[in-house]
Amino acid sequence: MTDTEVEFRTVIEPFRIHSVEPLRMTTPAHRRAKAAEAAYNLFQIHADDVLIDLLTDSGTGAMSRDQWAAIQHGDESYAGSPSYFVFKDAVQELFPYAHVIPTHQGRAAERILFQVLGGPGKVVPSNTHFDTTRANIEYTGAEAVDLVIDEGHDPASLHPFKGNMDVARLEALLAERGGEIPAVMMTITNNSGGGQPVSLANLRAVSQVCRAAGKPLILDACRFAENAWFVKMREPGQSERAIPDIIREMAGYADGMTMSAKKDPMGNIGGWLAVNDDALAQECRNLLILTEGFPTYGGLAGRDLEALAQGLREVVSEDYLRYRIRSTAYLADALVRLGIPCLMPAGGHAVYIDAKALLPHIPPLHFPGQALAVALYEVGGVRSCEIGSVMFGRHPDGSQQPAAMELVRLAIPRRTYTQSHIDYVIEVAERVKAGAADLPGYRIVDEPPALRHFTATFAPIA
Ligand code: F0G
Repeated sequence: MTDTEVEFRTVIEPFRIHSVEPLRMTTPAHRRAKAAEAAYNLFQIHADDVLIDLLTDSGTGAMSRDQWAAIQHGDESYAGSPSYFVFKDAVQELFPYAHVIPTHQGRAAERILFQVLGGPGKVVPSNTHFDTTRANIEYTGAEAVDLVIDEGHDPASLHPFKGNMDVARLEALLAERGGEIPAVMMTITNNSGGGQPVSLANLRAVSQVCRAAGKPLILDACRFAENAWFVKMREPGQSERAIPDIIREMAGYADGMTMSAKKDPMGNIGGWLAVNDDALAQECRNLLILTEGFPTYGGLAGRDLEALAQGLREVVSEDYLRYRIRSTAYLADALVRLGIPCLMPAGGHAVYIDAKALLPHIPPLHFPGQALAVALYEVGGVRSCEIGSVMFGRHPDGSQQPAAMELVRLAIPRRTYTQSHIDYVIEVAERVKAGAADLPGYRIVDEPPALRHFTATFAPIA
């Protein structure tokens, strides 16, 4: 069945509930007190004070009956665990790279890779680096450069693949600073740019440019299945192809990948690094042993590896992906109908509200995204995440510059909330919009030198 053959309007969850977790209902007064106690940083709020948690889609999805069953097969041998081989086979079924190195999560794979490839004087281009990738590159003294196409910076552009790399700018950078570039990255889907997909055609073009220049291309592939679904729906000639086939084609354009298995592989924890190059793999394994663990478990338990292998089998289901992408678009479409500006088309894993457009009275360095995120929490107990000048506005030299966009991300955990939860979120957003003109901006009271959004403290500007 293709999307155009779907007969009914209602998006039903392609699962029924097997085990339930209670939500704690809270009042606006309670939430205002909790927001103030947390110094207006939503990462500092206790999760049981949150009603609908859209902070992230990472590690927060519901594992399936079959994943919990797979956990019982976990073998905790220190070396050579059969669970590692189940995991490795499931990864290589989709990503046939020679070396698969488990890590406790995605940023561990990034840290290891860039400890080997990075360093002062190096430059790593990407369509858009995720915050942890950028931070791990910068931590080694290297520079992280974002080269997404111009449409990727325009919240209103309806380009079908707004995650694409600007190939001409990549070629120019390679011509100018090729000697400083150890590898090129591609984030699929492009999380910091709105969960937007990358087309096969763009991956192919980037791959050709990288191969001609002798540079490895590394995928940051957290949401590969969602990307493959967008390819199937939007890219000419792809609609009849099987999802695993599209994924293998994407993998074939690159020479390796970093991965957070807390996203599309449906894990509560996990990640991996995979590469074809034997010498690079050896160096990475040596670092892995230093800080993560032996190469057949990385930072994971055998049971985690089993759950991820099963998750990889489930995420390529077309029934699941159709529901996943349509239910995210359902939220975005409803918000747009209410006049709440969103980055369109909707991303795969999240809806991004354009806080700069919704709160024009708050200048970027008074953090309109933070103001909106705090309001969604105080009004309705909905926790979201600022992706704007709080997250990206501070540079390694300590200077402040507004980010390209001021977004608030409503990330949808996989298989966790039902349509009525989402209808509630829509109502909360409507209420927040009604009072938008009165929302205050924020200033930062205290911040760490990197990744400040996790721990900075804020105060409203009177
Ligand atoms: N790359 C991308 C594109 C990501 O979205 C993330 C995590 C990572 C790498 C790092 O993986 O968390 O397992 O260490 N994104 C989460 C998010 C945290 O909320 O978007 P990790």
